[in-house]
Amino acid sequence: MLSVMVGLGERQYSIEIGSDLLSSSKSYLPFVANRAALIITDDNVAPLYLSQVDSALEQHGCQVFHYVLNAGEQQKHLDSIAAIYQQALSLKLDRQCLFVALGGGVVGDMTGFAAATYLRGVPFIQIPTTLLSQVDSSVGGKTGVNHTLGKNMIGAFYQPKQVIIDIETLQTLPAREYAAGLAEVIKYGLIADLNFLQWLMVNTKAIIEMDDGVLMKIIERSCEIKAEVVAADEREKGIRAHLNFGHTFCHAIENILGYGNWLHGEAVAVGMLMAMNLSVSLGQVPQSAVDALADWLEDVGLPTKLPEQVATSDMIQLMAGDKKVEFGVLRLITLKSLGEAEIRSNISEDLIAKAIDTCR
Ligand code: NAD
Ligand code: GLY
Repeated sequence: MLSVMVGLGERQYSIEIGSDLLSSSKSYLPFVANRAALIITDDNVAPLYLSQVDSALEQHGCQVFHYVLNAGEQQKHLDSIAAIYQQALSLKLDRQCLFVALGGGVVGDMTGFAAATYLRGVPFIQIPTTLLSQVDSSVGGKTGVNHTLGKNMIGAFYQPKQVIIDIETLQTLPAREYAAGLAEVIKYGLIADLNFLQWLMVNTKAIIEMDDGVLMKIIERSCEIKAEVVAADEREKGIRAHLNFGHTFCHAIENILGYGNWLHGEAVAVGMLMAMNLSVSLGQVPQSAVDALADWLEDVGLPTKLPEQVATSDMIQLMAGDKKVEFGVLRLITLKSLGEAEIRSNISEDLIAKAIDTCR
């Protein structure tokens, strides 16, 4: 088993990464003991893994309750949060209870937000079961839901007490979801670690074959990079914005296509290519780097082209409402060089349009 710490002082927590962790009570911190635990999951994950988590928590003397959401990004809205409150209140769960997020990023983001706000805050742990949630969304405490006017627009920064990553859960993950997670993995190489980027490009076959050692390495390195960034800038005043490389484009694509029609990671893939196109226009990375990225994304099964129905003008309009806009000025993440990101503002609309249209 590997362990990565998120160094946030008294709110620090560990990310445990390994095999067969869900059903072993030893994976869980002693702090969970004897609490009423509300496990929040979705209807795809529940039949696969809920009983394993139940029994591990029961071994800790927990009284275990469940709330099972319908799966999917379309469920990530405030009505689902209200339904979780309803369940917790009906069960009379008090501040000593524990919320447990068992599932992908949708379950994790919503459970975290419900935990942040139920009784003004109860502890929660993350048990991510998609690659995307294991390398990204379960770490760092961004929680929340979508609004019809924008993705992840309602939420809170609220850290989990622990993250438990069992790589065995990836065996049941649909191939399309696995590929979506790989988009966030290569993001870390692009923004923060050239060696990791090169390693990912060389090991494409083993990555596609889901070799256990390779999975451990990509999850550990991704979590290390994310933990380091979050520890330095928990509330995204600066460097944490680098983790949003490609995401301003991505959120506009997801919104226009309708949440859930493209997976988040698929939109990240095309969004990163757009951000790379921008970096080429700004003279920061060579065109060959964009071509290599596009080839890798295609090899692992990710899209590299924007669907025809997505108009450039609609994207630009939505991007103007991004969370990174400050005093009305859009800030975008570009690459200073391969393996190093930076925040840029005042990029002309023409350059942004060109970066989008190059993905047609
Ligand atoms: P998801 O939660 O919708 O899960 C994808 C699908 O896989 C779902 O149908 C789910 O039921 C199913 N599933 C989950 N685990 C499974 C398993 N082991 N076997 C079989 N099926 C399984 O999507 P996701 O890609 O995990 O997460 C995307 C969400 O994460 C988006 O809402 C995005 O905004 C959010 N996100 C948040 C952060 C953050 O920092 N909080 C970062 C990145 C993404
Ligand atoms: N996924 C971006 C962040 O956590 O900041």
